[in-house]
Amino acid sequence: MTLNSTWIRLGLEIWLGLKIGSVLVYEEICTQLKSYVCLGEAAMENHVTQISREDLEDLREAFNKIDIDNSGYVSDFELQELFREASFSLPGYKVREIIETFIAGDTNKDEKISFDEFVSIYQELKSKEFSETFRKTITRRDGIRSFGGTSGISSEGTQHSYADEEKVAFVNWINKALAKDPDCQHLLPMNPRDESLFTSVRDGILLCKMINLSQPDTIDERVINTKKLTTFKMTENLVLALNSASAIGCTVVSIDAHDLMAGKPHLVLGLLWQIIKVGLFADIEISRNEGLISLLIAGEQLDHLMSMSPEELLLRWVNYHLRNAGTQTINNFSDDIKDSRAYFYLLDQIAPQGEHDYRMSVKIDMSGLNERDLDRRAELMLQQAARLDCRQFVSPRDVTSGNSKLNLAFVANLFNMHPALQRAQINSNGIETTHIEAETKEEKTFRNWINSLGVSPYVNHLYCDLCDGLVILQLYEKVNVPVNWKKVNNPPYPVLGANMKKLENCNYAVELGRDVAHFSLVGIGGENLNEGSRTHTLALVWQLMRRYTVLVLSDLGDGERVGDQIILSWVNTTLSQKRKDTQINSFKDKLISTSLPVIDLIDAIAPGTVKWDMVKRAERRMLTDADKLNNAKYAISLARKIGARVYALPDDLVEVNPKMVLTLFACLMGHGLKKANR
Ligand SMILES: *[C@@H]1O[C@H](CO)[C@@H](O)[C@H](O)[C@H]1NC(C)=O
Ligand SMILES: *[C@@H]1O[C@H](CO)[C@@H](O)[C@H](O)[C@H]1NC(C)=O
Ligand SMILES: *[C@@H]1O[C@H](CO)[C@@H](O)[C@H](O)[C@H]1NC(C)=O
Repeated sequence: MTLNSTWIRLGLEIWLGLKIGSVLVYEEICTQLKSYVCLGEAAMENHVTQISREDLEDLREAFNKIDIDNSGYVSDFELQELFREASFSLPGYKVREIIETFIAGDTNKDEKISFDEFVSIYQELKSKEFSETFRKTITRRDGIRSFGGTSGISSEGTQHSYADEEKVAFVNWINKALAKDPDCQHLLPMNPRDESLFTSVRDGILLCKMINLSQPDTIDERVINTKKLTTFKMTENLVLALNSASAIGCTVVSIDAHDLMAGKPHLVLGLLWQIIKVGLFADIEISRNEGLISLLIAGEQLDHLMSMSPEELLLRWVNYHLRNAGTQTINNFSDDIKDSRAYFYLLDQIAPQGEHDYRMSVKIDMSGLNERDLDRRAELMLQQAARLDCRQFVSPRDVTSGNSKLNLAFVANLFNMHPALQRAQINSNGIETTHIEAETKEEKTFRNWINSLGVSPYVNHLYCDLCDGLVILQLYEKVNVPVNWKKVNNPPYPVLGANMKKLENCNYAVELGRDVAHFSLVGIGGENLNEGSRTHTLALVWQLMRRYTVLVLSDLGDGERVGDQIILSWVNTTLSQKRKDTQINSFKDKLISTSLPVIDLIDAIAPGTVKWDMVKRAERRMLTDADKLNNAKYAISLARKIGARVYALPDDLVEVNPKMVLTLFACLMGHGLKKANR
């Protein structure tokens, strides 16, 4: 082997020797490593790029991640993944070349790669062709990268910073989640150390895929542009992504396709976090995971548990396992997890026991608890998490610094992968699981609409989260109904009489609806909202959403109030002008279940968007249910792609849900008028 790898080997032998001896503390090892690096550098007369201590730590981290059984070796076929983990992605053919070279020169012919062999391969590659590009970016010590100083950002006089650790976490997550997606091969794997995330989002494909992953079937993949990506086609994808993100409840009010095209880091990361969170939290809900009932504490009502947010449930879940382990519980995912203690016990509790197959069982190595250096301890803990395939979102530093966002994501992923909640315990709590009602589609659509407008706090449960009136009052403002905030009681509410304060807000909300917005609120009082009554809350929220949807139409028109009839005749006129024969009588017209009027309308507004071979036409009203659903998915994704912010779901078209059908047509009309006005 070459001189440099000899030096590396020597250095690593020192290191590994120390490691095996386990007598020296981490700092001493680092000092040793530093001197070895200097030594090597001098001896090589700077011909070779030096491997910094940081790089070595990264390599070690990558190696440990792949070497899940801690054997000290990885197999040659895992090499590609190893490089990927080391943020040094190589095309497959390159890796095969390396492996061949390696096997040819492998002295011990075991076809296994030890850490030092890996480092020398890495070192050779790096010094050859990649030294230029690797690790160009400089991370400030606090981990915050700042940018600006050029282009539009500085001209606005603002400089945004973003958290580098979030970028690293999201890139690793996306790399893993989409690794096998054939449409993402031109983008993946991204290097978490550089800025490639911000350029990779430009064509919109990545975002569309992540949305569809978080909420399956949100985007019809036939609508994503994947070939011959011009700026126009990329913009279409981005518009599709943004409108779909808002349909799953992400707040996208201050971000547009240009921002994404420009790869503005704080906006990209903000959007991605929302999208990832939707996916992570999707199953942290009692109707989706009845095992959560075992988290009830003595004397607690199921309703209370059901009204908890995913964050609160996760905390409950962690503490449930910590109690079972007989150890101290935690109050947050920041200060309380910094020492990795809770995580060690949690991992130990949730690790698969392999009841049916002992080979599936994982025994967590708890010895890391004795490590005194917290960063090192966090690393040991994460190595155990890796054995559960859950080393995600956090680095040791994110643990020891108590980054609550990333730690929340880490825990959510642990929950999704290994909830370790016994269904049997449900009965011992005496709860009839049949009483657990899942959120209806309509409720979910309303909730997504509300959240997409950026209300605070985030609405997890339509009824209980609206019962203090505050979110409803914020919605009034979004639909141009002025709210006198002096009349509103804000939290924190006093311990005594809290509900009175909330009720006052609800009364005010009903008053505004009746007197200012002229909603029809017959028989609805503030107390109904306060109690979380379904029908009453739905009636008010629907009128808010309707007003929101048609507002854009009166802005575009001459300000007249837009009734159903105006939208209907616009639909009919537009269709007949383009010689389409799909007219509708009302928003209940059975023809709507075929989605053909919608698709025709889209073709009328944005000619050339519809690929007709995707549309099931056949004998019209004779379409099968599957055909109808197929058309509906296509129609809704198309509508979003041409710029309509549609919240309706495919089922709303198939089942001809007149409310959602109205919003869909109104959105398209708004879009059509806007185009005509341009
Ligand atoms: C979206 O999700 C569905 C269901 O998970 C899947 O069948 C479809 O291929 C996905 N589409 C894209 C664009 O990823
Ligand atoms: C987390 O909880 C602990 C108590 O368990 C408390 O001392 C600490 O201040 C909390 N940290 C945050 C950021 O809320
Ligand atoms: C729309 O067209 C249908 C069929 O041509 C007709 O029956 C209906 O009255 C029209 N509705 C409106 C509002 O124009």
